[in-house]
Amino acid sequence: MRWIILMAATGMLTACGESGSSETVGEPVTPAPASNTAPDTPIPAPAPVAPPVAVETVDLSYLPMPYSEADYDAGRRLFRRCSSCHTVAEGGGNRVGPNLYGVFGREAGSVGNFNYSSALETAGFVWTAEQLDGWLANPREFLPGNRMSFVGLREETDRRNVIAYVLHESGYSPGN
Ligand code: HEC
Repeated sequence: MRWIILMAATGMLTACGESGSSETVGEPVTPAPASNTAPDTPIPAPAPVAPPVAVETVDLSYLPMPYSEADYDAGRRLFRRCSSCHTVAEGGGNRVGPNLYGVFGREAGSVGNFNYSSALETAGFVWTAEQLDGWLANPREFLPGNRMSFVGLREETDRRNVIAYVLHESGYSPGN
């Protein structure tokens, strides 16, 4: 509310200054409510309404399609659903689930110090973005008997964004 008054006052001052004739117009000039500002003090620049948001731009163009066009920031937010159980940083350690650093191109169920279900340990496939897409769409159906108690991400866009995030954060490089 104070702001609106100050803005209005600022506008008035500017208008008066521009016309240069405020004293000759017979109309009473309402004293500016911002009179606590010394007359020769420049009008302060408006304070930012919200703190500036640091927009992190992450270049995903090196990823294969469609991940090159994914929304990294949306993926980062989605990964919060995974991070109660998984870290993705190098050396991040295992939680309820194994550390995901370097997961792409790696045999499923092969993080040495993690105790997998036998279903995942003997699954016999290598993680690719496509495999992860199937896993995340419906973990239970993708590999019956696995122990990842996660309901899955039904939305294709959500999977694309979170997979792009994991690709980027897990140290994936094309040709791996
Ligand atoms: C409630 C805990 C939990 C959540 C939430 C969860 N996971 Fe998992 N995840 C696990 C467990 C436990 C395993 C190992 C499953 C097994 O051994 O059968 C696993 C396995 C995996 C694997 C296979 C890793 C490997 O080494 O073969 C990937 C990839 C994976 N999760 C990705 C994700 C992603 C991405 C998300 C979020 C969208 C997620 N997980 C959410 C617990 C979780």
